[in-house]
Amino acid sequence: MDYLQIIGGKPLSGEVYISGAKNASLPLLALSLLAKTPFKLTNIPSVADIKTFIKLLENLGARCEYPSKNAILLDTSYVNHTKAVYDIVRKMRASILVLGPLLSRFHHCEVSLPGGCAIGARPVDMHLKALTSMGAEIDIKSGYILARAPKGLKGTTIVFDKKTVTGSENIIMAAALAQGKTRIINACKEPEVVQLCQILSDAGLEIEGIGTDEISITGSERSLLDLKEVAVIPDRIEAGTYLCAGAITNSPITVHNVIESHMEAITIKLQEIGFDINYSCDDDSVCSMKLVPAKKISAFNITTSEFPGFPTDMQAQFMALATQCEGTSVIRETLFENRFMHVNELQRLGANISLNGNVAQVTGKSELFGTDVMATDLRASSALVLASLVAKGISNIHRIYHLDRGYENLEEKLRSLGADIKRLKEQA
Ligand code: EPZ
Repeated sequence: MDYLQIIGGKPLSGEVYISGAKNASLPLLALSLLAKTPFKLTNIPSVADIKTFIKLLENLGARCEYPSKNAILLDTSYVNHTKAVYDIVRKMRASILVLGPLLSRFHHCEVSLPGGCAIGARPVDMHLKALTSMGAEIDIKSGYILARAPKGLKGTTIVFDKKTVTGSENIIMAAALAQGKTRIINACKEPEVVQLCQILSDAGLEIEGIGTDEISITGSERSLLDLKEVAVIPDRIEAGTYLCAGAITNSPITVHNVIESHMEAITIKLQEIGFDINYSCDDDSVCSMKLVPAKKISAFNITTSEFPGFPTDMQAQFMALATQCEGTSVIRETLFENRFMHVNELQRLGANISLNGNVAQVTGKSELFGTDVMATDLRASSALVLASLVAKGISNIHRIYHLDRGYENLEEKLRSLGADIKRLKEQA
């Protein structure tokens, strides 16, 4: 196993190019199951979760080619069975995204229950309830979801009790091949959900309400779709993480290839804390954002919520930043029941954090000191990297396979900004 060694205290400067979004790529990989002809995706990040999803598709019989760097051509005409096996699904919960497409195309499938993870139980009950209302018969047996729809899926009205990103994506894809119109009420409107809907609309499906929390889709009645080549949208969470690297070291850094409207909750919060952000955008609204060092870095309050609110996937990174802010910051996590796994590790670095249920209070400015810490989940690990950038001395971050799931070339990008960071092998 690898670990990262960071020597903190170095000021950063320079620029990084943001990769394609992991959480936009995953549903698009699943969408390939609905394609009439090979489906080409570009700007796909080279990260572990993408590799795992591709392995899942290949295990189903799909064929993948790699025409160029960060591009993939998926041919699912060779898919010859519909069982998503535990050994692959357990590595990545988002594998549940094959459920809707497999069921709507083949009318039957077996998908291993994804199980929980460090940040919470993460049930899929809303996915299953919605598919049942579309006419699916669903049983759970020996840890697998057994789903059948012998007469195909039928459009209906679905109300999600809570907003669910992959739940919305699963049902949007199921509805794409269903008979009739499906209305999804309380749908998510994250940029990755919007891109999925736009691709289906470009393929000729009638979709209303794209970008709102009420989406309706008239299905193709099982005809496979003419999906056009797509460039995956930039990763707003990766971009936010690098802006936080600039903020926590109070350094001027620039991130390229970002979409401003995807980042507003993050950039407005950074401005509230004391940082100016200068934008320059091209006519496709793809921007560069330069973070300007602050004269005073003030404490802040955050309550995580669904898009366009403050993203839960940025909560850990801002908690690390809060250790360097003057005053007491209050961070409330509302989406996941256990998304404070980074607190103990930040405290080991010297952070002054107190927890009360789903609320963390962080008092700064704290002087942090390098030590050994352990990553527990993807975004928690990025928070430990950020804190190590300012901690005095050497920090060793272990179990960084969590980081490798969602950050492309993290060491190279941080090193290009001036960080002293190395990837080393654990001693046997
Ligand atoms: C997506 O997870 C993201 N993953 C997560 O990013 C992100 O944190 C999350 O949305 C919230 O924004 C991908 O897009 C691949 P949810 P998802 O369904 O879809 C509950 C990262 O770091 N719920 O929106 O699994 C659930 O327990 C990852 O990149 C049910 O109760 O999240 C949670 O409390 C981490 N029943 C809440 O809803 C269900 O059937 C939101 O979960 C589904 C969800």
